[in-house]
Amino acid sequence: MPDLKICITGGSGRISHALIPLLLNNSVFKPDIQIELSLLDIDLEVCVATLKGLALELEDCNYKCLKKMTYSTDPNEAFKDCDLIIFLGGSPRLPGMERSDLLKANGDIYKVQGIALKNAKPNVKCLVIGNPCNTNCKILYDNAKSVLPNIPKENFTCLTRLDQNRTEGLYKSLKGKEINGIIIGNHSSSMFVDNVNGEDFDDDFVKRIQNRGTEILNVKKMSSTFSAAKAISDHVKDWFYGSDKLCSSGVIVEDNNLNIKKGLCVSFPVKFKGDWAFDIQYNVVEELYKNENKKTKLEKTFNELAEESDLYDKTQSGK
Ligand code: LMR
Repeated sequence: MPDLKICITGGSGRISHALIPLLLNNSVFKPDIQIELSLLDIDLEVCVATLKGLALELEDCNYKCLKKMTYSTDPNEAFKDCDLIIFLGGSPRLPGMERSDLLKANGDIYKVQGIALKNAKPNVKCLVIGNPCNTNCKILYDNAKSVLPNIPKENFTCLTRLDQNRTEGLYKSLKGKEINGIIIGNHSSSMFVDNVNGEDFDDDFVKRIQNRGTEILNVKKMSSTFSAAKAISDHVKDWFYGSDKLCSSGVIVEDNNLNIKKGLCVSFPVKFKGDWAFDIQYNVVEELYKNENKKTKLEKTFNELAEESDLYDKTQSGK
């Protein structure tokens, strides 16, 4: 197995602190993989001081699989020769905000970082978490294409596993049963939540999942941290090693029979096949479209993604 160079943007933040031990303690990668960790954050005194402190602590952890750790405030430097980049960076949501309210503040970060991907390995894999994560992932891919015209769209995903884990976790605590939840559409309160091969969820359960991020934000006065890190580790592990389970991930969609605008990053059920490959399960949504009520809900969340993307494009037209 090759070594992996992994960059985490927003590297000094809370999710990064929860994620690093999972990545380096063999919760994601088997012990035969050596990891070079590159942390990126903005050039703010507090962020740089935290990165320096993290470097000291990582030395003290003496992780067997950590080959090297570097940090930077320049994406061109931080992305150099990376195999995988986990994008946590960006302003976090505050109580009273929708994730789409962050588009203005965060969209341009993903534009700059998309262009900086030219410094990474040509086949670099990207996972976007910073919100609004679906549209930020699209912005990242669109800008990466301007410098790496042949980069496959399958190299770009955004985190939906957090919503899937929430669905499965909450169902288990309420009903005591394991299920395979799926999430389709946008990581927003319009997301479509379903139960593969099981009874339909009631409306209250679905609302709870759609608004779980807000629920946590209102209780903690800060957004989710270690549940996000756990979901990232599940996503990366399944993307790298494959999974028998149906997983939910934001993916860049191609031409389709579902009337979804090509090129959007839409959360879909996928089959991870291992070695960073996956198949998008368009057929699951085709089947759901046969139910008019479900079709209306799915179209709503797909349309919201198209609107978010148009909104971002409008902010760019005057530049
Ligand atoms: C979440 O779902 O917890 C994250 O996307 C953070 C947020 O703002 O909701």
